[in-house]
Amino acid sequence: MRIGVFCSGGDAPGMNACVRSVVRTALSAEQEVVGIRRGYQGLLDEDFHRPTGGGILMTARCVSNIVQRGGTILGSSRSPEFRTGAGQQKAAAILKKHGIDALVPIGGDGTFAGAIALRRFWAGRVIGCPGTIDNDLCGTDYTIGFSTAVATAVDAVDKLRDTAASHDMMFLVEVMGRHNGSIAIYTALAAGAECACVPETPTDIPSLIERLQELKLRGKRSIVMIVAEGDEMGGAAVLNEKLRTAGCPFETRTVTLGHVQRGGSPTPADRILATRLGEFAVMSLLAGKTGGMAGDVAGKLEITPFEATIGTHHHPPEDLMRLVDVMSI
Ligand code: F6P
Repeated sequence: MRIGVFCSGGDAPGMNACVRSVVRTALSAEQEVVGIRRGYQGLLDEDFHRPTGGGILMTARCVSNIVQRGGTILGSSRSPEFRTGAGQQKAAAILKKHGIDALVPIGGDGTFAGAIALRRFWAGRVIGCPGTIDNDLCGTDYTIGFSTAVATAVDAVDKLRDTAASHDMMFLVEVMGRHNGSIAIYTALAAGAECACVPETPTDIPSLIERLQELKLRGKRSIVMIVAEGDEMGGAAVLNEKLRTAGCPFETRTVTLGHVQRGGSPTPADRILATRLGEFAVMSLLAGKTGGMAGDVAGKLEITPFEATIGTHHHPPEDLMRLVDVMSI
């Protein structure tokens, strides 16, 4: 079997470990692997990873010394051309031309929506791996990159807390997670933030003001509020403006962590998850499976149909949301 592997959408720490796992698992099983560069756009451009010496087949050495590296050696992109039916048909023809029988796309919701679309025109097998910092996919407890993104955010919040405490100040820290509050909730809990504003629960200015006044009365001198970029109220800057207008009892500053959360060396948890899922994806393809994502659910590796991974909202655990409040009294 000739397996194509690629990364698509926003990069996530651990994607390299996953590519490495796919390549080495396939080679160990005496299969061929083609590395497709820059996601679906690279496929349309026939942009393949070419090991020195020519050809498009990857070797075990192509993935040497990458398990610890952030980003992706294959590159990534979001491709407007692939979103069209014509683009998807062209991609199918290119896969046929290069004798690719199966694909392992590594990415998030857009990547899997792309896989569903491609399968309308192409009969090859597809098993994806969840590579996104957002942890917003159903069918896996954690996505590859989430652990590292949270660790990066927690490290930043720890530093901001020093300044907040020194100056009796409140920081509103905006974290990523397009439509999902997972990064915000995990960061808030691990960094001891007083509040987390996330899209899964209503953000209400009068209640927040009341809570901040109560915390001030209890003797809190510094506050950290984590704001998910996808909060229905808006990001940290918008929320800050609304809180100030409503009489926020603390002097405030806003910080947007942004893409810094997408980079850096993956945590051991992300490397191990990526390695396990990469192997499982290849072994599932060889066992005849197709049309789904490899995930880890309560320690058990499972394949979930692509439609189900993106069909419903993946909620951060409610007990963690509750704990943020309990821990901040
Ligand atoms: O999906 C991953 C993610 O990092 C989101 O958290 C964020 O909203 C988005 O990508 C940012 O995308 P871009 O890099 O295209 O601005």
